[in-house]
Amino acid sequence: MAPPYRLLVSAVVYCVVVGHAVGIRPILYMHGITAAPDEADPLREWVNEAFPGTKVTAIDAFNHLQSVVPMWTQVNTIKEMVREEMVNSPEGVNLICFSQGGLICRGLLSVLPHNVNNFISVSSPQAGQYGDTMYLKYFFPNYLKQNVYKLFYSDLGQQWSIANYWHDPHQEGLYTQYNNFLAALDNDTASTNITQYKSNFLRLKKLIMIGGPDDGVITPWQSSHFGFYDANETVVPMKAQKFYQQDSFGLKTLDDRGDVITHIVPGIQHTHWMKTRMVFEKYIRGWLTD
Ligand SMILES: *[C@@H]1O[C@H](CO)[C@@H](O)[C@H](O)[C@H]1NC(C)=O
Ligand SMILES: *[C@@H]1O[C@H](CO)[C@@H](O)[C@H](O)[C@H]1NC(C)=O
Ligand SMILES: *[C@@H]1O[C@H](CO)[C@@H](O)[C@H](O)[C@H]1NC(C)=O
Repeated sequence: MAPPYRLLVSAVVYCVVVGHAVGIRPILYMHGITAAPDEADPLREWVNEAFPGTKVTAIDAFNHLQSVVPMWTQVNTIKEMVREEMVNSPEGVNLICFSQGGLICRGLLSVLPHNVNNFISVSSPQAGQYGDTMYLKYFFPNYLKQNVYKLFYSDLGQQWSIANYWHDPHQEGLYTQYNNFLAALDNDTASTNITQYKSNFLRLKKLIMIGGPDDGVITPWQSSHFGFYDANETVVPMKAQKFYQQDSFGLKTLDDRGDVITHIVPGIQHTHWMKTRMVFEKYIRGWLTD
C-alpha cells in the first residue's frame, strides 16, 4: 500500500473510531518543581469540555521532592516513557509544560526525533533563572542568589535540578564550566550533541511561550520568553541573545519561519498559571487545534 493511501485509511479509521468529537491531537503535560501529575487536573477538565475525547496524559514521574533530581536524569527517564507517544504517534502530539517542566520538555525535544506539533511552554525559565525565590529559600536556606553559584557551579551542586538551569549573569565562566544542562542545550558549552539537538528541536511546528511580569518566581520573568540578564542585570531580549543570533538550537530558524509565539500575560502569579481558566481560554486553547 502506498504511504498516502495508508495515511488516508488511518485518518478514516481514526474518525470512525473517535466519532465526530474528533479533532484534536493528544496532549502530553509535564509538571513543575515540587508538583505532580494532578497539576494537570484543571487543564484536563477544560480540554475535555472544549474537545471531548481528547487524550491528556500527565507525565507521572519525578513528582514532589523527586523533582529536584538532575535534569538529565529526568529527561533520560521520561524520554523512554513518552517515546511511543512523542515519536511514533502519526497525528503528532501537543506538549504543554509548566515551569521547570518546560525545560524538561526542551530536553525531550532536543534528544528525541519527535513528532510534536506545538510546544506550549508556560512560565518556564527557558533562558535560566537568577532570583531569590521561595524555592531557593526552601531548598537552600543558607544561600542567596549572589552566592549560591558557589554551590551550584560545582559537580556536587549540579546534582540539583535548579542548579542545571541556574544562570548567574556575574559568573558566566563558571556557568559554562559547570552547567551541564541548559548550557549544553544552548551550545554555550559547544556540546558535540548540538547538531542532533538542533535537528530534533526543529521538528517542532510551533513554539508558544506564555509568561508575565507578575509571575514572582521566574526571574527575570522575561526568561519565560528567552530573555535574560546581562552582567548589569539589564534584561536583554530573546533576539539579542547569543543562542538566538547564532541559531544554536534552531530558535532563530523557527522564528524566521513565523513559528515562535510569545504571550505576555500580566496579573498571574507563578502558582496560578495552570489553575486560571482565562489563561487556558485565551492563550492555550487556540493552539491545540492549530
Ligand atoms: C551526548 O549525548 C549522549 C547520549 O545521550 C550522552 O551520553 C553524552 O553525555 C552527551 N555529551 C555531552 C557532551 O553532553
Ligand atoms: C554595564 O554598565 C557599565 C557602567 O554603566 C558599562 O560600562 C558596561 O558596558 C555595561 N555592561 C553591559 C554588559 O552592558
Ligand atoms: C556550537 O558552538 C561551537 C563553538 O562555539 C561552534 O563552532 C558551532 O558552530 C556551534 N554550533 C551551532 C549549531 O551553533
